[in-house]
Amino acid sequence: MNHSNILKFIQKAHYTTNRSILPSKTIKTILKDNSTNVSVRGWVRSVRKQKQISFATINDGSTLKGIQAILNEKDAEKLSTGTCVELYGSLIPSPGKEQSKELNVEKMKILGECDSTYPLQKKRHSLEFLRTIGHLRMRGNTGSAVLRVRNAANEGLHDFFKSQEFILTNTPILTSHDCEGGGEVFKISPIDTTNPTEFFKKPVYLTVSGQLHAEITALAMSRVYTFGPVFRAEESMTSRHLAEFWMLEAEMAFIDELAPLLDVTEANVQETTRYVLDTCSEDLSFFNQWVDKSLLERLQKSIAKPYVRMTYSEAIDVLQKAQNKHKFQFPTEWGSSLQSEHERYLASEYCKHPVFITDYPAELKPFYMRANEDGKTVGCFDLLLPGIGELVGGSLREERYAILEQKMREAKMNIEDYQWYLDLRKYGSAPHGGYGIGFERLLLWLTGLENVREVIPMPRWVGHCKY
Ligand code: 4AD
Repeated sequence: MNHSNILKFIQKAHYTTNRSILPSKTIKTILKDNSTNVSVRGWVRSVRKQKQISFATINDGSTLKGIQAILNEKDAEKLSTGTCVELYGSLIPSPGKEQSKELNVEKMKILGECDSTYPLQKKRHSLEFLRTIGHLRMRGNTGSAVLRVRNAANEGLHDFFKSQEFILTNTPILTSHDCEGGGEVFKISPIDTTNPTEFFKKPVYLTVSGQLHAEITALAMSRVYTFGPVFRAEESMTSRHLAEFWMLEAEMAFIDELAPLLDVTEANVQETTRYVLDTCSEDLSFFNQWVDKSLLERLQKSIAKPYVRMTYSEAIDVLQKAQNKHKFQFPTEWGSSLQSEHERYLASEYCKHPVFITDYPAELKPFYMRANEDGKTVGCFDLLLPGIGELVGGSLREERYAILEQKMREAKMNIEDYQWYLDLRKYGSAPHGGYGIGFERLLLWLTGLENVREVIPMPRWVGHCKY
């Protein structure tokens, strides 16, 4: 085939992404479609048995409410909460206010019976209890709504990066370095400690951040992002920390000041919020009703105007002025790190809006952040959200070989191990920067839930690795 024929051939091979491949339809699609004779598969959420007719709510995870099925007494007798069923029947207008259509069942098949010990009976359960049955909690309203919002936030993030011409590059999970230098790395155990030819022949860790690898790809592809699980052996048992969490990391070449980096971060979070508001209204209304009555208003407000921007030095001034009234437990001297009480005050009380704090003292931040002209601070930022605290951390990266090498020596790093990182500054270095969004913290923001353990399907934290 010659070149122009190849092009014609490729143009013909267009995708048909809207065609459903599976033979059955989800409840979401069934309720939207105009078909009358349908089959529904899902799990029974509740059964109401009455004298002549009975009702069951069936949910397959595609919508919050599921579908109401009308059954005869004999069929209803075989059902209990949790049973997995396949129902065939006609879709008819519903006289009730709760739903517009319901399913008049003609044929029923039980796919999986459910034991009477099923722990998710129809009643309100505490989030702590639901966490103890992580293998079943997505069968309830909160668990399934979380997963749909999680999915929408995923889509929103990818949509944003596509619109800005970023390339998704998948950085590795196994690494030989500690990007943040915090020493919170999980070490991979050798298969056989006595064997001198152990697998990697050097210490290997689970990644704490894909940033250094994203820098490699950004310094060839210009605009990149990566999205995957990262691991931190943090002993802290707070509602904001997990040992395994997902981080969205963006890295871009050809920026030499913080402003455009903050612009991208702000648009990234705002556009993702907008995407979730547009595509998940039913689930967000549910969270607004049951979890956080200010959720929808807060999210709408957060996309309506730009985030506040202030330097670390300005933030310290603000905190010192508030010291008399607030009696912060930790110091608010220039040079001290911002603790959660400070972050909470700045975002929730002082700004009442997401706020970027920029240009922290160099001593508080990792080696890779770009030194500012003042010789004291680095070109970096944290994005703080009201009620959440830090959502994003990012910086310009030190692209000057000599300064970077000096910083690595000061941090007592083994230069040989990081020669490849220095090489990037030797072979066509470019000003660049990037940031990392903690995905579970973003989900707290989007759902109003208060603990990151609620928004990841199988949470891992110190002392806990069930499933
Ligand atoms: O501020 P961090 O440590 O930044 C980095 O790792 C950079 N290398 C990212 C980059 O520039 N590419 O982490 C980024 C975000 C935090 O702002 C926070 O939202 C989240 O990750 N995070 C955690 N989320 C859950 N559990 C933990 N233990 C977390 N630690 C950080």
